Amino acid sequence: MKNIERIPTHVAIIMDGNGRWAKAQGKERYEGHIEGVDSVRECIKAALSSGVRYLTLYAFSTENWGRPIEEVDALMELFCKSVIAETPELTKQGVKVVMIGRRDRFSERVRSHLQSIEQATASGNRLTLVLAFDYSSREEITTAVQAIAHRVAAGEIAVEDICETTIAQSLYTAAIPDPDFIIRTSGECRLSNFLLWQASYAEMYFPEVMWPDFKQEQFIEALEVYASRERRYGKL
Ligand code: IPE
Ligand code: IPE
Ligand code: MG
Repeated sequence: MKNIERIPTHVAIIMDGNGRWAKAQGKERYEGHIEGVDSVRECIKAALSSGVRYLTLYAFSTENWGRPIEEVDALMELFCKSVIAETPELTKQGVKVVMIGRRDRFSERVRSHLQSIEQATASGNRLTLVLAFDYSSREEITTAVQAIAHRVAAGEIAVEDICETTIAQSLYTAAIPDPDFIIRTSGECRLSNFLLWQASYAEMYFPEVMWPDFKQEQFIEALEVYASRERRYGKL
């Protein structure tokens, strides 16, 4: 692998374009999602080989529940199948899987697969793979505000003590550093309710390629784009 000067600690990806990829090939949308799982595998490999420590993947947004039931069911089924198929290799590679998002709306089956992959990979220390699944950034912030309000009401903290750290530590991502680099495939240039708080100083990249065509090579190309950026954080 080429030597890239500055590797982001945390890469977050909005995996978009599965449906359009499938349509362009005369296939069903579902086939785009299946090929998308292969891209996930490829990006995990590339993250491991390049030294990225956190990889967050936006797999299912809260708004995605609004898709036709057949597609939602197919995505849940694909999730379960992928968990079963990938857990041994992820464990072997030292990948720790954690989930961010709501858990209360999944079926018992999906919930148990989530739990089992988190448990099986808990000691992984090479890469943390964060799966945003039934995730909405506004819902995450709202839940955090409620939790903080409860602590104030219980007299545990004073209003004046609420600071940015209090909020950051009340989010699903409390144990995860902010993303350095956010990639969204398929040419769409929006965040779609993803990591709104955490993205405050992330570099963004919107390649045209659809998610099923985003493989190791494209991941490494993206890291080169990141390495060429200058991060100023408001300073000179
Ligand atoms: C991303 O691809 C996968 C999910 C949102 C689950 P899409 O399914 O959004 O594909 P397009 O955007 O319709 O092409
Ligand atoms: C964002 O993609 C969500 C995921 C990639 C999981 P969408 O395809 O759902 O987003 P919009 O509707 O184009 O904004
Ligand atoms: Mg889409």
